[in-house]
Formats: sequence, C-alpha cells, structure tokens
Amino acid sequence: MDDVTRNRIMRQHLETERLFGVDAVPVGQAAPVVGHAAPAVEDEENAVHNTEDAAVVAPVNAPRGGAAAKLTILQDMDAKEVRGCTSCELCHSRTNTVFGDGDPDADLMFVGEGPGRNEDEQGRPFVGRAGDLLSKMIVAMGLSREQVYIANIVKCRPPQNRTPTPHEVQTCWDYLRRQIKTIQPKVIVSVGGPATSMLLDTKKGITSIRGTWHEYDPPGTDGGPIPVMPTFHPAYLLRSYTKENRAKVWSDLQQAMARLGLTEPA
Ligand code: URA
Repeated sequence: MDDVTRNRIMRQHLETERLFGVDAVPVGQAAPVVGHAAPAVEDEENAVHNTEDAAVVAPVNAPRGGAAAKLTILQDMDAKEVRGCTSCELCHSRTNTVFGDGDPDADLMFVGEGPGRNEDEQGRPFVGRAGDLLSKMIVAMGLSREQVYIANIVKCRPPQNRTPTPHEVQTCWDYLRRQIKTIQPKVIVSVGGPATSMLLDTKKGITSIRGTWHEYDPPGTDGGPIPVMPTFHPAYLLRSYTKENRAKVWSDLQQAMARLGLTEPA
C-alpha cells in the first residue's frame, strides 16, 4: 500500500471515530447498561477488538432470570432448527449458518441483510469490514457489541453476496420473527434497504425512509409495536464514505439513543 493510500485510510479512520464520537469514550468508564447482564466474554474471538471498546464493556455476568430463559430459547432455535436448516437452496453453498449474537435481553437490536464471506466462515454476524464499522457505531452510542443483539434477515450467505431472493427471505423470516419475539428489544435499528423492506413490509428506498421512526408489530406478543429506525448499511457507508452519509447515520443512531435514554459517552 502506498503512503498516499495509507494516509487517506488513516484520515478516514480518524474522521469516522470523530464523527461517531469514539475518541470521546473515557478510558476506564463503564458504559450504561442497556438490557440486563451481558453474556460472558470468554475468548479472544468474542472479546472486544480494541482498547476503546474494552473501556466501555459493562461488568460481565452470566445471564439471569428472563435473560437466561431467552438465551435458552435462542440457543435451542439455533441448535435444533437453524444449523441444520435445508429449507432453501442457500444451505448448499453455506459453510456455517449465522444465527445472530449478543445480549438475548438487549434493549437495542440491529438487523442486517445476510452473512457475507467472513460471517459465513466464522458463523457470526457482522465480523468483516462492515462489522468493524458497525462495532464502532455501537461503541459511539456508548455500548458494546455484547450489550446489543445483532441478527440478519437470512441466516445463510447468498453466493457472491447477492441480495437474497424473496423466496429465501420468506423462508428464513420465521427465525428472525421469533428472535425478535424472544428478545423483545425496545428499539430496532434496521441497516440497509433489504432488511428495512422486510421488517417494515415496505417498498420505500432506504434513502427516503432512513432517519424516521417506523414500527414493527410482532404478531402474538404482549409488548406492542417496536420502534424501528432504518439507517444506511455500514457496507454502503464504506463504499460511499462521505461526511454527509456518516452524519446521516450518526443522526439516526442518536435518535435511537434518545429513545433508549442513552447519552453520548462524555
Ligand atoms: N452484512 C450484513 O447485512 N450482515 C452481516 O452479518 C454482515 C454483512
């Protein structure tokens, strides 16, 4: 990589951190806990990726009470249904299914489109470049990945990262529906057009719909409709890395924070 490219990447990186407020996270201060106890961070794989992240991880405890029950439901669904799922043709090309991860009792849930190459290899959502950016966005909100829940519309990687077909989305939908029903987040942030269209059953484009509150009304739950904030997908943001786009995403996330009573890290 030449110096010009290296400097440009470094400048963009610093600018992302500035815009999402990451540089303002005070080292050693715990983030406000959203939801209940975060699941245990046991190994390097699940550990936070940098020192800024490490500074905002809440005390690590095993989930209790309602959180433990939710965890069991999610683990059962993953182990007994999703991992062996052959309901659509994506099962033939996948390496791993990608169920979702995070706090089963999270107040904030992110919903993306579907696994890419890295996610397919590791069996975890948002672990590639887009995932790194999503992690930064979460940290900028004063949280860690372990305090939110992250899932996708489809649980298997579409070949060449193509958009999942309507049949694939429909076939997989019941898993996400039940994940949301179990977790009962207070706010959902849908990232990108396909996730937003599916969740909100709309044909509106992400550019026009982002930044405004919508509702997902989970059938058969007592909790009532869940507010949904659509925003740009981090992969789009990486492709179209303008100050304007980053400011839009940050403003969408700030709306979600306000709804959850979160304040920016000082
Ligand atoms: N993009 C998504 O929508 N989901 C992932 O898990 C990774 C990339």
